Amino acid sequence: MADQHKRLIEPRERLTELREQINFHNYRYHVLDDPVISDAEYDRLLVELRQIEEAHPDWITPDSPTQRVGGLLSERFAKVAHPAPILSLANAFNGDDVRAWYERIAKLIPAGRKMQFTVEPKIDGLTVVLHYRNGVFVQGATRGDGIIGEDITPNLRTVRAVPLKIPVRGKTVVPETLVVRGEAFIETQAFEAMNAAIEKEGGKTFANPRNAAAGFLRQLDSRITARRPISLLCYQIVSANGTTPRSQWELLRYLNDLGFPVTDAVRRFDDLNEAIAYCETWRDKRDELPFEADGLVIKIDALDLQVALGVSGKDPRGAIALKFPAREATTRLIDLGVNIGRTGVMAPYAILEPVMVGGVTIERATLHNYDDILRKDIRIGDRVIVKRSGDVIPYIAGPVLGARTGDERVIAPPEKCPFCETPTIRREGEVAIYCPNRDCPGRLDRAVQFFVSKGALDIDGLGEKIASQLIEAGLVEDVADIYLITRDQLLELEGFAEKKADKLLQAIETSKSRPLDRLIAGLGIPHVGSVAAEALATQFGSIDRFMAATEDDLTQIDGIGPTIAASIVEWTSRHTNHDLVARLKKAGLNPQAVIVAPIPSGGEVAGKTFVITGTLSKPRDEIAAQIKAAGGKVTDSVSKKTDYVVAGEAAGSKLAKAQQLGVTILDETALNRLLQTS
Ligand code: IVH
Repeated sequence: MADQHKRLIEPRERLTELREQINFHNYRYHVLDDPVISDAEYDRLLVELRQIEEAHPDWITPDSPTQRVGGLLSERFAKVAHPAPILSLANAFNGDDVRAWYERIAKLIPAGRKMQFTVEPKIDGLTVVLHYRNGVFVQGATRGDGIIGEDITPNLRTVRAVPLKIPVRGKTVVPETLVVRGEAFIETQAFEAMNAAIEKEGGKTFANPRNAAAGFLRQLDSRITARRPISLLCYQIVSANGTTPRSQWELLRYLNDLGFPVTDAVRRFDDLNEAIAYCETWRDKRDELPFEADGLVIKIDALDLQVALGVSGKDPRGAIALKFPAREATTRLIDLGVNIGRTGVMAPYAILEPVMVGGVTIERATLHNYDDILRKDIRIGDRVIVKRSGDVIPYIAGPVLGARTGDERVIAPPEKCPFCETPTIRREGEVAIYCPNRDCPGRLDRAVQFFVSKGALDIDGLGEKIASQLIEAGLVEDVADIYLITRDQLLELEGFAEKKADKLLQAIETSKSRPLDRLIAGLGIPHVGSVAAEALATQFGSIDRFMAATEDDLTQIDGIGPTIAASIVEWTSRHTNHDLVARLKKAGLNPQAVIVAPIPSGGEVAGKTFVITGTLSKPRDEIAAQIKAAGGKVTDSVSKKTDYVVAGEAAGSKLAKAQQLGVTILDETALNRLLQTS
């Protein structure tokens, strides 16, 4: 939608629109500490604006957001002029971007100069600028617009990680004036504990550690800051009147000797590709860091070179951030689905416009319970913030209130169960809403047990106990989730050693090739047992055609009466069930049924062309030899000239093509009868 919009309007109009949007988001982020889009989206807007301005340099004006070093200034705090600009960083999203950055600056570096690169985590916090005079902490500021910051000295004094007097220990000589830059943040664990405590008291939780840290440091009442678990890591000397180290590597050590906290996850490389490879190893390990990091920073180690390379816009040329894929994104909440747990508890989940979060596409996210939806005021049609960290199930942090159009629909707790229409109940003192019907077809444990049973997908080793374990661990919220379970997730469950996990994963894999009738039976549609499922599979041949069948189509099938037909249409008309089938197909379950033709009468093999596909009871060569002995021809590909396709289990594209061309399909029994009559 946004892309279409982009294409339709003129670059000049888009430029104005982008500037307005970026200014608005700057204000939300820097002044209100309450951003309504993710950093990644903000970056995309800025990249787009930069591209337009690069194509039309005469359109650049001094007030363009690309020309500014940072955010807006709040009127609430006194101003502090920084001794040197507090710069930002250019972003790279992959190794090629980093190599392109280096190619650009390599031209500016004297030939023969030995290069080294220092790599540090890019902490997702708030820049602070700490001023020391004769070793005494005298002032602390935010970054502000990069030139002028806000005086938050009283707040910073309460942060234990900020040394009030340096050197804290030892005899390192301290320059008379020293201005150090660092990142203030809240460690992940402390953040989670703090949010849990706030939630318990019924207060408003923080969207992420960075916003929380920024909020606390920009408090007018420093007593509040003092109670918060704020950490600090320092990485730059902004100015000093004395001798300071010549490389970033030594500088970190020097800062540490003075008593400033610095990261210990720092490495130095002679080769840029090695530095990039090192950054990439952190992608999957980012949760091992005790704080939120949104990437790593690669810096030219020699500080004289960093200075000589200068600045491009607001970014120093001598360093670049290699970002991790964003773990937070906004998207539209299309609809709400409900799962019913083993005890009847109703668990709402969000059906989302697909969006990339942390490197994977998310289409569904948990919404916990109806009280939570109400508390966060989440509405259908809202733009919502989706979060996912590590192996955590994606969840909706909240709506983007600023993006409301007025067409959003308020979500009311259901009065009746959507699966069985039984009035729902709420137990005293509990937030959960229940469907009290023990036989409710929507109950997840029942649905899973049914799906994996012998008459359906027949997943060996997925018994009642393991099904409950998977549901309780939050790994299975509908039957399609079974196909997303990973080995690592299983190994974390009690009682799962490697052998057991591998066996179960193999059984899950095998179940993907069960025939269509078993899949239809496994969906748990009321009144659809194995006999009806077989009739349906034979009639429709694919899950898509089955999902599209009307009541009329259905009642024409032998053995499908009006009750079954109505029940099927009721099931297939639900959005959530379409979603389920789509996810099953995506997981690799898309069986095509063998539509058995009526047996042709006498002598029908000689002169006819056959194609054999799928797994049959005998090797294909043997079957081909039988056909040839009866005067038939066997070819490899299906075309209009093919008379018969012999299809076994898990027949794939050839069967589909035969169905498309209307070629007669035989199963093995039908073929044998045909051979006998020839
Ligand atoms: S270096 C000239 N190093 O990331 C120095 N920045 O997106 C430029 N940040 O505004 C910054 N960790 O607040 C640097 N190890 C690190 C960092 C870091 C976090 C922040 C910093 C900067 C932002 C840019």
